Amino acid sequence: MSRPSFRFPDGFHWGAATSAYQIEGSPLADGAGPSIWQRFAHTPGMMANGDTGDVACDHYRRYREDVQLMKALGLHGYRFSINWARVLPEGTGRVNPKGLDFYSRLVDELLEHGIAPNATLFHWDLPAALDDRGGWLNRDIAHWFAEYAEVMFKALDDRVPRWSTLNEPWVVTDGGYLHGALAPGHRSKYEAPLAAHNLMRASGAGIQAYRAHGRHEIGVVFNIEPKYPHSDRAEDVAATRRAHAYMNQQFADPALLGSYPPELKEIFGDAWPDFPADDFKLTKQKVDFVGINYYTRAVVKHDPNQYPLQATPVRQPNRTYTETGWEVFEQGLTDTLTWFKQRYGDIPLYITENGSAFYDPPVVENGVLDDPLRTSYLRKHLGALHKAIAAGVNLKGYYAWSLLDNLEWSLGFSKRFGLYHVDFATQQRTPKATAKLYAQVIASNGSVLDE
Ligand code: BGC
Repeated sequence: MSRPSFRFPDGFHWGAATSAYQIEGSPLADGAGPSIWQRFAHTPGMMANGDTGDVACDHYRRYREDVQLMKALGLHGYRFSINWARVLPEGTGRVNPKGLDFYSRLVDELLEHGIAPNATLFHWDLPAALDDRGGWLNRDIAHWFAEYAEVMFKALDDRVPRWSTLNEPWVVTDGGYLHGALAPGHRSKYEAPLAAHNLMRASGAGIQAYRAHGRHEIGVVFNIEPKYPHSDRAEDVAATRRAHAYMNQQFADPALLGSYPPELKEIFGDAWPDFPADDFKLTKQKVDFVGINYYTRAVVKHDPNQYPLQATPVRQPNRTYTETGWEVFEQGLTDTLTWFKQRYGDIPLYITENGSAFYDPPVVENGVLDDPLRTSYLRKHLGALHKAIAAGVNLKGYYAWSLLDNLEWSLGFSKRFGLYHVDFATQQRTPKATAKLYAQVIASNGSVLDE
């Protein structure tokens, strides 16, 4: 019998992902401290429609029901994040047993249903108490993070086989410290490189803590967005190189190579600090895997008015764009994976997020909401993964973003990425057609895509 062309390697890991502030709700329940997202969302003017994570998907109270949804998909794994301030309300020191207990119960529920927990320690919701002490700008944060990580490893590593230190440090620094659209809302080219560097120092310290206290796997999650030049003019090619260094190498290089690409000094000029050489001993730690979040690409052209990159993305004619304004470009996923292997070596890789926001027509037939554009996005990107595997990339698994429609950060509930539609007035969950396709992909290990 000939092997179906879309069948994935045996043992390929199929999952879905979420993050704490985007779905949990009850942000201050049971003794939790406020996070910077709690604060940001309650600052007038910061969030679309004044949305907040006060309720979100109410997952903190409905997690059992949500594990049933995962079960219905046949997920092998579920990637979630831990709200640091639930566990350590002041960020360091006192542990809040009720906060810890929530994650312990979630993990038990997953295991009971045969779903492997994949826990991310930091998906952007820094304890507000630590922001008051300088947050990512304070070098001590590497120790604060390691202390928190150790608490989590001691409590859950007996049951959690896969951990990540950080989710998408680029977004934290670009949105939170350079352009200000995300918490904590700063705008400074002097702060952004410091925050970036301390994020990677903290990640390294977290991995060191894991080597002392953990027995399974730990890695880190980067968003990688491949950059292609708008033209072959030297200035566009140089702008593309800068954009690539800024977004894709600024974090992976210190973690995996122990250095920064030279373009960062070109970009930040006198705002680029000379970091102590010893810091790279901390940032570069052995990882068991790297998680890559892939959504889109950018075609880049030189633009002297763009601060500080002097580069701007160019919208492509006759292409499909998602509701977040991202071009659907699946070849970029194949290119990303092959580039990553070529630059950083043969590290086991996971796609830890991939998905799309599209308008969902409010039509439910036979209990399913038809979402053709999202379904097509999933199909195309799974095909692109298959190409990367055929090219020799050591890809272990895929997590769809996201299990549920949720709070898309400062865009509020206006953008829906879910496999399940959520009615935020009633909390009713409805499967979309993409969820149905994904369940079939999992059950057939990809073969259904041949049909
Ligand atoms: C983040 C998610 C976010 C998604 C869609 C990623 O940048 O990790 O939290 O919802 O992309 O924007």
